[in-house]
Parts: sequence; structure tokens; C-alpha cells
Amino acid sequence: MATVTLIISAGIAAYKALELTRLLRKEGHRVVPVMTKSAGHFVTPLSLEAIAEHPVYDSLFAAGQESQIGHIQLARQSDLIVIAPASAQILAQYALGLAEDLPSTMLLANTAPVLVAPAMNHRMWQAEATQKTIATLRGRGVAFVGPNIGDMACGEHGIGRMAEPEEIADAASHILGLKDTSLSGKRILVTGGPTCEPIDPVRYIANRSSGKQASAIVRGLVACGAEVIFVHGPISELSVSGAECHGVQTAQEMLDAVMAQQNIDVFIAAAAVADWRVAPRAQKVKKGAALTLEMIENPDILLSVTQSVFRPPLVIGFAAETDSSLDHAQAKLRRKGCDWLLLNEISAQNPAFGAEENHLILLAQQGDKVAVTDWGRGSKDALAQRLCAEITGFFA
Ligand code: CTP
Repeated sequence: MATVTLIISAGIAAYKALELTRLLRKEGHRVVPVMTKSAGHFVTPLSLEAIAEHPVYDSLFAAGQESQIGHIQLARQSDLIVIAPASAQILAQYALGLAEDLPSTMLLANTAPVLVAPAMNHRMWQAEATQKTIATLRGRGVAFVGPNIGDMACGEHGIGRMAEPEEIADAASHILGLKDTSLSGKRILVTGGPTCEPIDPVRYIANRSSGKQASAIVRGLVACGAEVIFVHGPISELSVSGAECHGVQTAQEMLDAVMAQQNIDVFIAAAAVADWRVAPRAQKVKKGAALTLEMIENPDILLSVTQSVFRPPLVIGFAAETDSSLDHAQAKLRRKGCDWLLLNEISAQNPAFGAEENHLILLAQQGDKVAVTDWGRGSKDALAQRLCAEITGFFA
């Protein structure tokens, strides 16, 4: 049994702290709730106390509380501190080391791991000040879960929703060593699915990618405790949880979403990016005469990453080939400047696109040489697990 100190700061999502408390208790943990003063506007100490079956601490100066269990003691007894919801205010206090109330004072005295589940309006999340705060905290080893993208209490839509209680409880278990932590602390960016290039407001050019292999990789990485960012094109059934997902349409949007990420340890380019786009027309093209489309080459996302100053230590590309596969794949590995390349031989035996199974061959650059390992055929989930094991080996 671990002692999890749950700091609840102000925000609509504070009501979800009740469900999170229940889940952590179900996993067998002792939950010690600590609230900021304003959190009481969103969830009552009484409900928290009832579900945690533990007193709630909310004041640095309340008679009794500090003598029973001081802020130093609260920090010392924690195996893990979870801040959920974490407002912009508490994150800024934490980054600056301000000791203004019980939670911030406790955080300053703490040496246990900290897991943060941010919750705020998307403009506040994307503000330069908040992003600098996040980078500072990440630099100190603080783990993050979410925020997710979705509808917000303020009526807007965007990134900033608190991760679901199940995702937070899962991330907590990873940190507490109850789950596979082989990739904990690693930030991994994955692209997946097709991209869609509009011709006019009605039509588009796309490809057969289903995003299933990329989704399996995302699930595998999350299960290993990695922090995963999934930038994906239109995928009909998005079956991942526990990752930060960014849906895009075009190759340019995918490139922008990828280049906006920082501090990435591994980049996995599993997307089937459309190689060309057309200059889209504002009006629907009417049939009648032959249509000629002028194709413009799209930016190469993988190449942009390998050539960037932020190149992650491990970059993994994919290659879909139908003929002279190994030769093409070797040339692609070099041309794109990646460390590893997973070759998908597309054939009648391995349709790959949309299928549940796949056949992958790993090409790994080793100095001047390229090591080739045939992983054989298997389910996309099994191949994803193989990839996760290789990545773990790379960092070991
Ligand atoms: N890729 C990319 N951006 C592009 C095209 C491809 O990031 N505009 C990435 C894919 O995600 C994959 C790798 O590059 O990891 C190889 O993609 P593939 O389609 O096999 O090769 P291309 O570069 O498109 O070359 P070709 O189609 O001529 O084989």
C-alpha cells in the first residue's frame, strides 16, 4: 500500500477528484487529500473525506491541523503526490518555489515523485508563461498526464481538459512501480494514420492507412509508462487512451503539430503522409470537362525532424514498399537520416493497410553498417510490443 497525497486545486474538474480518490483507494492506496482554499468552491471537503476515509487538509495555519500533521510531515509521508486538477496558479507557484499555502509549502518540502494533471482553458495552457512553467517542471522530473483535448466548461474547445480519473490512476500506478515503468519519464511523439489533402470543399486526396499500427504502438508505449503524444490524421476508430492526441487533416497541419512539440526523446513516424497536395479551390469543381490537378510536393515531416536542432536521440521511420523493398528501405533510412526504419512490404500476403496483422523488418543504422532483423508476421499489437522492447533496450 502506498500513501498518495492528492492535491486538489481550484477548477471545474475538481469534482473528478472524488472518482480519482475512489480509484486510488480501489488499487489499495491510502489517499491523503489536500485542498487549496479555492478548491472548496468546486468540491466539498466532506465528500472527499468520506470517499478517502481520511481527514482533508486545507490550511497551513488551522489550529489542530499543523500540530497533528505539519506540512513537512505530509510531504515526508508521501510515496507520490498527485496534483489533480492542477490549475495554472498552482503550477506557477510550484515552478517558482512559492510557499504561500499548505499545498505549495508541502510541494517545496517534498522529495517524493509528483504527478500533475493540468486543467485549464486552452488559451491559458498555451500561454507562453504556462509553457515555460511546464518546461521547468518537466526539467525537474515532474510527470504529467494530459491535458486532453475536448470541450471545456467555458464553452470553448481545445487542449486543457483534465485527463480522466482512470488515466491519472493508471499513471500513478506506473510511477509507484505497480505497472511496467520501462519507458517512464520518456516523452515519445508518434505520427499515424493518413493525411487528407483537400481538392475543393467536397473532395480530397488520401490513402489507405487505417492508423491501426500507429495506434497499437501508442497503446504499447503508454503501457510501458511513456508519456505519449499522438499526432494523427483522420482515423475512423481512435482506440487509444492515456496519450495526448492531436487530430489533424493535412501534411502541413501534421508538420506544424509535430514541430510544436519539445523535449522529445523518441520520434516515431508511422503516418502515411500524402506526398503531394493540390492548391485547393474555394468552390466545388463541377464535372463536365477533364480535370487537371497540379500537384505540389508536401513537406517531409520525418526529414524535418531529423534535420531540426531539436532532433530526438532516437528517430524511427517507416517505409511502405511494394518492390525491391530492402534496397529502397536502406536508401530511405540514409536519405531520411533516421536511426531505425521499419519496413512494411506491401503485397497480397501482407496488405498491411487496414489489416489486423502486419509483417515488419527492422533496419538499424549501426555506424556505417545497417543491421537487418526480420520480426516476421504478427498482430499489430505484438509488433508494437516488440518495438517498445527495442526502445527500452536503446535507453537501457
Ligand atoms: N514521411 C513523412 N513526411 C512525408 C512523407 C513521409 O514524415 N511527407 C515519413 C513516413 O511517416 C515514414 C517515412 O517518411 O516514416 C517513409 O514514408 P514513405 O511513404 O514510405 O516514403 P516517402 O518518403 O513518401 O517516399 P516514396 O513514397 O517515394 O517511397
